[in-house]
Amino acid sequence: MKRLLLFILPILIIVAIVFSIFGIMQIRFTQEKLMDDLQKKAKAVDESLEFSARLILANNDLKSANRLVESFQKRERLQGCVIYDKEGNILSITERFSDWKIKEKPYLKDILINKTARGALENFKDYSVYSYIIPVIDDENNTLGMVEVIYDTSYVFTTMSDLWRRLSISLITLLVLIVLTMLLIQRRIFILPIINLTEWFQHFQKGETETAHPIKGKDELGKLASEVEQVALSLRIARKVVSEKATERLQKDELWTEAKLRDLIHARLGENALFVVSNREPYMHVIDAITGQPKCIRPASGVVTAIDPIMRACGGTWIGHGSGNADRRFVNSKDKLGVPPGDNRYILKRVWLSKEEEEGYYYGFANEGLWPLCHMTHTRPVFRESDWKMYQKVNQKFADSVLAELPAKDPFAFIQDYHFTLLAKMIKEKRPDVKIALFWHIPWPNPEVFSTCPYQKQILEGMLASDLIGFHVQSHCNNFLETANKLLESRVDTEKFSIVRFGKETFVRPFPISVDGYLNQSSQNLDLAKEIDRIKKEFELEGKIVAIGVDRIDYTKGLLERMLAVDRFIEKNPQYKNKFVFIQLAAPSRTHIKHYHDLMNEIDELVEKKNWKYSEGNWRPIIYLKKHFSPEEIMPYYALADICIVSSLHDGMNLVAKEYVASKTNLNGILILSRFTGAARELIDSVLINPYAIEEFSDAIKSAVEMPLEEKKKRMQNMRKIVSENNVYRWAGSIITELTALKKA
Ligand code: G6P
Repeated sequence: MKRLLLFILPILIIVAIVFSIFGIMQIRFTQEKLMDDLQKKAKAVDESLEFSARLILANNDLKSANRLVESFQKRERLQGCVIYDKEGNILSITERFSDWKIKEKPYLKDILINKTARGALENFKDYSVYSYIIPVIDDENNTLGMVEVIYDTSYVFTTMSDLWRRLSISLITLLVLIVLTMLLIQRRIFILPIINLTEWFQHFQKGETETAHPIKGKDELGKLASEVEQVALSLRIARKVVSEKATERLQKDELWTEAKLRDLIHARLGENALFVVSNREPYMHVIDAITGQPKCIRPASGVVTAIDPIMRACGGTWIGHGSGNADRRFVNSKDKLGVPPGDNRYILKRVWLSKEEEEGYYYGFANEGLWPLCHMTHTRPVFRESDWKMYQKVNQKFADSVLAELPAKDPFAFIQDYHFTLLAKMIKEKRPDVKIALFWHIPWPNPEVFSTCPYQKQILEGMLASDLIGFHVQSHCNNFLETANKLLESRVDTEKFSIVRFGKETFVRPFPISVDGYLNQSSQNLDLAKEIDRIKKEFELEGKIVAIGVDRIDYTKGLLERMLAVDRFIEKNPQYKNKFVFIQLAAPSRTHIKHYHDLMNEIDELVEKKNWKYSEGNWRPIIYLKKHFSPEEIMPYYALADICIVSSLHDGMNLVAKEYVASKTNLNGILILSRFTGAARELIDSVLINPYAIEEFSDAIKSAVEMPLEEKKKRMQNMRKIVSENNVYRWAGSIITELTALKKA
């Protein structure tokens, strides 16, 4: 629009100026001509009046004067005639103009003395008149009096304003015509070809690579189009080569690495990129409360921990909610940015939600409804109709955002979690050809529990539009199959582990999620050693046994139980006073929800109470650090911790447990792990606990503290083998292999 104005405005200004100059000249000319005509007419009439008045004035014949005046007043546009005597007094005046008597006329004397005629415009009452006066002179050159004719000039001004109006209308019409013509020309010459080129390029991007570009001419635009076509062509060839080479390498490699996953994706998805959808975005821009400057943070989220390394390795597009308060400042016109910032390995597309949408969909339905429904922590789910409506609306918003990005051929979408149970169905309604995998990062409850959800049917139907649904462990898969069997008209195939509904088959599989398994590499790093020293000094940890917990502040994480177990451990083993410290890194989470808010207060009080109970000098058994920690900030805590405690009351997998194991290069560490996490199925060499049983839990802390180094190393070695073999690349690789295999079936 700005560009268009820059183009049209100068032309309009020039046309307006030229037109106005000619208009003003035309008006002046017309006005002068009209006035000239009027003067001539007044003079002629006055002269004939003078001729008749001469005898009347010589005889001072008042009656004849009145008759003369009456006979003249009938002339066109003549307002009045006046006959003056030689003193300048009115002898006779047209009756309808009798008010003329009251006007001051200082010039009469001059006319009588100088014996010259006078014509001038005069203002009288509210209007303007033209008065022409000539002296009446006898044969002896004596002045007998004067005669005056008064003409109405309003027609001159009416004619002028008519002219002004006509000229203005012509100017406006001309300007409008110019604007319309310019718009048409510029649309025809510039906009249409650019729209066509953009559409062609968008289709090319989505994989429709067969058609040639639409610009026919060889002008500048044609040259640009053919350059774009060359870039697009090289891109297509490059992708094909990558995909073929990847297929070759895939057949050789054994171990799951970043490179192997990249090859798999190139081989299986060909020219298409990977599309991931999750509520939580992997990089968030927020305003730093202290500096007031925007900064980029990595949110505390299992989804982010697991999927970011995959996307870094393979590229593609991640669509997530732009929830950071500075997020809008960092996106391009399509709401996208390259991430990680400064490294740009993949594209993050941010979807914007209003406060109401976030409230109903995220805080309400997802986190007050589905989250407690799926976690067995004895927290009642809350289902509000208004939240459900928002949840549907936001799922549709994300579906539209995904649909706008999908390639033309063989699209593949990878949806994350309970925020998007309806997304697969909404996408398939428009694009039934999309292959969709949905991964459920939290537990799936048994059918009885799930049947309490008022929207059970819509949720299950939405999920079953996916081609593949993944859970962390087999028992969650079993729960899901049973739920579908009991609550929905469907056929469960226990051989193939699939659900068939109205002819559509959805496969259900366990894919235990993991971390990248290479966290140990960074522990060699010098900065890390420095950071460990700093933390040890700050919290006086030298010579102490350190246990660590890293969690979002969530009621499923068993944080209160953990504090109580630490308390009980010290109570029962006072010899560890001053020798044992438990550090909890706690990231505030979902704080607008009352339950979470209350939990934060409860933990604060409990920590305060327990620390006070044991306070001796500077030593406190619990160091509670309530803030958001970046993965880099967490790393030194993992490295220095002798023990890591994961005490979730219920957890889909729990990646903190795996991160701790992956980071323990020196094998000197032990994991205390809740039996109710998915990770407990794999990390059987941890010290397994029931977090509700505080006595057992505190004894587990004691046995971890006192475990001989040899045993710790052996256990850690076993666990590290499991984590590095079953790393996140394997997880993603298995899902993609399974999904693309379905495609061929
Ligand atoms: C769990 C969920 C994730 C979620 C994460 C953090 O791991 O499965 O989907 O992102 O918690 O929660 P938040 O609500 O902060 O995204």
